[in-house]
Amino acid sequence: MIKACVIGWPIEHSRSPMIHGYWLRKHRINGSYEKVAVAPEDIESFLSSLGAQGFAGCNVTLPHKEAALRAADNVHAAARSIGAANTLWLSEDGRLEADNTDAYGFMTHLKESAPSLRLQGATAMLLGAGGAARAILYGLQKAGVERIVIANRTEARAAALAEAFDHGLETIAWDKAEGALKDCDLLVNTTSLGMDGQPPLEMSLKTLPKESVVADIVYTPLETPLLAEARARGNACVDGLGMLLHQAVPGFERWFGVRPEVTKELRDLVVADLKV
Ligand code: ATR
Repeated sequence: MIKACVIGWPIEHSRSPMIHGYWLRKHRINGSYEKVAVAPEDIESFLSSLGAQGFAGCNVTLPHKEAALRAADNVHAAARSIGAANTLWLSEDGRLEADNTDAYGFMTHLKESAPSLRLQGATAMLLGAGGAARAILYGLQKAGVERIVIANRTEARAAALAEAFDHGLETIAWDKAEGALKDCDLLVNTTSLGMDGQPPLEMSLKTLPKESVVADIVYTPLETPLLAEARARGNACVDGLGMLLHQAVPGFERWFGVRPEVTKELRDLVVADLKV
């Protein structure tokens, strides 16, 4: 029996067990995927005994993504560039390997949902400068997006992010972002604005070209006020749930040896759970 898990603090609301449980059943794999609450002070000891506890690997969520990177023996390129790890596995000789699949998850869903978007040479605007923004920035740059403009409420954080990723990045004041939409092929919200219980993102899409794509990483609700406005204006929309589903694929393949698919059935299962 192959065992994997997701660790976080808190971990109660994680949808990862539902996603991996669906794939385990679908592929009739003798395996398990559980949630484990790991307090910040216990993260190092938990990871150093991952193999001894019988786990092939784990997903890592808040607040452990940076600690997981530090604990790893071998850090793969995406995790190194993003500065955080969300997927860990033990190599055959017992080394702890770390990668970050958030950029993969976002980009895969983006390409699926907006197949006509030409990423090579495109201009994108990114709202937010936190951990999610870092992962998406990495994905967009790797896909050849030429110009990325970062707008964040706290400007210093946007500037620090732009500096860390060095080429092709610009920053713009939060209250000037709306005025720069006319040049954007892609707008991505990586802030928590629009999430249930948070204020909506107050941004008019009036000047955004009709052919541009709008993506949101918020998935509660699935149709955020930003996406609702974009849809009403005729822009292609990319919701936040696809990123969550697709980022799980590489980990499952590492631990259980089968590359799973993000099916409509899986998506419907998670959507139904989000409504509960
Ligand atoms: P994550 O790792 O999920 O990206 P984070 O690091 O806490 O989370 O970042 C949250 C992002 O949402 C930040 O860009 C934050 O802006 P600040 O850097 O100014 O804090 C943004 N954010 C959260 N609440 C906001 C609000 N009310 N208005 C504007 N931006 C907000």
